[in-house]
Amino acid sequence: MSAEVLRLENAQKSFGSVRALKRASFSLHEGEVVALLGDNGAGKSTLIKSISGVHPLDSGQIYVRGAPATIRSARDAIELGIETIHQDTSLAPDLSIARNLFLGREPVKLSFLGVFAPLDRAELRRAASALLRRVGIAKKLDADAPVRTLSGGERQSIAISRAMQFAAKLIILDEPTNNLGLEETHSVLRFIKEMREAGHCVLFITHNIHHVFAVADRIIVMRRGEVTAEFVVADADLLSVESAITGADVATLMREGKSH
Ligand SMILES: Nc1ncnc2c1ncn2[C@@H]1O[C@H](COP(=O)(O)OP(=O)(O)O)[C@@H](O)[C@H]1O
Ligand SMILES: [Mg+2]
Repeated sequence: MSAEVLRLENAQKSFGSVRALKRASFSLHEGEVVALLGDNGAGKSTLIKSISGVHPLDSGQIYVRGAPATIRSARDAIELGIETIHQDTSLAPDLSIARNLFLGREPVKLSFLGVFAPLDRAELRRAASALLRRVGIAKKLDADAPVRTLSGGERQSIAISRAMQFAAKLIILDEPTNNLGLEETHSVLRFIKEMREAGHCVLFITHNIHHVFAVADRIIVMRRGEVTAEFVVADADLLSVESAITGADVATLMREGKSH
């Protein structure tokens, strides 16, 4: 198997009396797409928020490329090469597409006195246009348009482009195809495959099992705050995965005709 990008051991996280994560453990490797599945409330979002620095763990250990890592802020995660696209997308609706693509990391031009470091607008536009061309939406989108004028799918594409731009080792997507149209969904799935081809590791959360079978190499299933099952997609069947997610046995699922 290729090099380990991230490993989580015995992750625990509570919100008051709610134990969102209990002893969750898993590992991720270079060049693989991993689907994180589980019912609502299973702890999927909490798990990725702990890796991305939104909700630091109460206890447990994160290893990044084999070395123990402390992730207590979004900046910590980004510095370790982890880019996350949250469910509630983290774009600034009133800023332009170009600004959003480089939010917090805009190219700067050193002024004569070196006092001001204003945004290098020309460079920003150029880089944004190049990036939009690369993700195949340049024809439709103007880098100067504010993000609030975009559809859900276009926003998702911008967020993904941003992650690609910074060549993160690990890209995490929380329900990236939620509320997207068919064409937009396909474009997101295509991005995920492209990122794998470029050697990134992609971890994505979804409720659409067909998307999992379309792009994922591996499946991690969570139930009640723990990682309870893992599958290699090539060897997995739909009913076994559904059974792992819901806790119902395969025979019951077959009787109920839930195999879509
Ligand atoms: N910020 C929070 N404050 C309080 N409880 C939370 C918070 N985030 C998540 N939880 C709780 O933690 C549990 C796991 O939630 P979550 O990680 O969002 O699950 P999933 O993404 O699998 O649906 C749920 O019971 C949820 O209500
Ligand atoms: Mg969630």
